[in-house]
Amino acid sequence: MPEISRRTFLHLSGAVAAASTAGLPHPLRARPRRTPPVVVASGNGLRGVEKAYRMMTEEGADPLDAAIAGVNIQELDPADQSVGLGGLPDERGVVTLDASLMHGPTRRAGAVAALEDIATPSLVAKAVMDYTDHVILVGKGARDFAIRMGFKPQNLLTEQSRRDWLAWKTSLNARDNWLEWPDAAAKHTDGTIHMSAVTAAGDVSSVTTTSGLAWKIPGRIGDSPIVGAGQYCDNATGAAGATGRGEAAIQSCGSFLAVEFMRQGYDPEDACLETLRRVVAMTEDRLLDEQGRPQFGLSFYAVHKDGRYGAATMYEGPQFAVASAEGARLEPMAFLYPND
Ligand code: GLY
Repeated sequence: MPEISRRTFLHLSGAVAAASTAGLPHPLRARPRRTPPVVVASGNGLRGVEKAYRMMTEEGADPLDAAIAGVNIQELDPADQSVGLGGLPDERGVVTLDASLMHGPTRRAGAVAALEDIATPSLVAKAVMDYTDHVILVGKGARDFAIRMGFKPQNLLTEQSRRDWLAWKTSLNARDNWLEWPDAAAKHTDGTIHMSAVTAAGDVSSVTTTSGLAWKIPGRIGDSPIVGAGQYCDNATGAAGATGRGEAAIQSCGSFLAVEFMRQGYDPEDACLETLRRVVAMTEDRLLDEQGRPQFGLSFYAVHKDGRYGAATMYEGPQFAVASAEGARLEPMAFLYPND
């Protein structure tokens, strides 16, 4: 059985207190609990969680619409080089974007991969979900679909991202190969934004959007557009998502696994930690250091449909964004390995 974390203890304490007043007359008898709404995201989602939370609580927005509006802020921000407009390009200098999402109440999903020229892949993924019988569209088909749906094509390569690509390109040398990461590429593997939300009614949704690994081989997609890897939700349990090395989240079905751990009774934070332990167990030797630790970053974020939330990352340091009745803030993430 999983250990009970502090968050779970506090949550259960509330439930026990409510149960102990069950025989009391009104007004002391506890009313049926409503879920405390909450939105979580990767650290670059601070503005996004605030917006999503406000939409859900003040405007009664659907959790998926709210989460998409939250990640749109980063997609349209040219300063965020991990997502949408201004995202770092592939090895040819072409920006290609990936996104996927799930809507808990309807159990529907949508995704796009290797999408060019459209700054908001999350909204194209939503259109795939809303208007087609498919889940994923890729490449030229995804772009053509987006344009037919009214999205406007634009150049996504900003001057800053072009300069960074040029710097990488000019630093290549004859000894580089695809199984070794140049420092410039490693620096950007943690980009991406994930957002998961739960409403007062206990409905959950999740969305992840990214420009993927910087300088990738054209055609490479990561976990973000793959349902179950980059994000996953199940309205009976909760939602989860990932940022960081996409290959590791794909090989572990990481977001699906985090939700399954919550279904088994793990607190969201413990579910994320347990998922990271599974990732480590499945990591190839070539990616482990002398102490058996992965040489990459990976983070998971999760919300339970009862309003509990948590996140965990491979190495100490990153924070995650949370919005709840206490406001929007960054919180430290649980981690598997201290930075030493
Ligand atoms: N997690 C984003 C990617 O690997 O593409």
